[in-house]
Amino acid sequence: MTLTLYAPAKINWFLEVTGKRPDGYHELVTVMQAVSLFDRLDFQVKNEPGIELSCNIDLGPPEKNLVYRAADLLRQRHAPACGARIHLEKLIPHGAGLGGGSSDAATAMVGLNRLWKLNLPQEAIEKLVSEVGSDCAFFVRGGVALCTGRGEIIDHKPPIPEIDLVILYPNVVLPTPDVYRDLSRHLDYQPRTCYFFHVKPELHSANSLPNVIFNRLEEAALRVSAGLREVWQQTAQEAGVTARFVSGSGSAIAFVMHDRSAAHALARLFEQRGLGRAFAVKTVTVGGSEQQNAGHRGVRGSDQAGERSG
Ligand code: C5P
Repeated sequence: MTLTLYAPAKINWFLEVTGKRPDGYHELVTVMQAVSLFDRLDFQVKNEPGIELSCNIDLGPPEKNLVYRAADLLRQRHAPACGARIHLEKLIPHGAGLGGGSSDAATAMVGLNRLWKLNLPQEAIEKLVSEVGSDCAFFVRGGVALCTGRGEIIDHKPPIPEIDLVILYPNVVLPTPDVYRDLSRHLDYQPRTCYFFHVKPELHSANSLPNVIFNRLEEAALRVSAGLREVWQQTAQEAGVTARFVSGSGSAIAFVMHDRSAAHALARLFEQRGLGRAFAVKTVTVGGSEQQNAGHRGVRGSDQAGERSG
């Protein structure tokens, strides 16, 4: 029997860095939001103990992959005699600030908890998976949440109405540590307050979000990557956009759109202009799950033009 789960990407509606910690990490206040761009994980029981991981793209040594690390951590702590084969289909761009690796790791733990019938509560999975990466815990439940600490302390909030977005990946891999390193040379600002939840979440719209969107890592990401800077400059004036921001540590740029058809048109246009891989997506209310939120899967700009994407 194969269990299939879909791991969503995220964007950050708000991200402020409030200081540097003794452990080298940065203290954050961030609003994370799951969106309808998914990796897919297939799980099968294996009779011998251990994890076997395969992927549609070259992952390098599996032991370094977050899925493998999360799966093996769960096995070692809670099911040493169990085994599983996991196949990962990657669609979420890597090094993009979209949390793909973290979401895959969380979804691997959620999947194996079910496959091996361990019945661990969500809180236990959140705690365990945060050992693998700072923003993994969010993806156990997904939706929208206020996250603090390294990003691993999660306060889940009621969903906001569906918002349409375009996510543009400018074909630039931006390592998160490089962006934090740059920011740590510019920590002389007054931290901003998060106003995202001052409005009832259910009242948010494409028109209200520009008032609360902010990302402290945006300027650092733009300083670190000339490639991102170039695409940022080329996308300043696009039709149907109410707000534009770098997602997390980048390099993906998110565009809040008035409606679905404007999102599809802009994703297509970005790909025609050769700016990178562009996806029309919407906000979703869950983390790793069997559904891609009832068929609302992100649409690649080039797929709409009838081309096949890789
Ligand atoms: O925890 P994770 O492995 O995802 O973090 C990747 C890198 O991002 C860390 O090694 C660190 O350089 C930086 N980081 C940080 N503060 C955070 C989260 C990440 O400095 N709160």
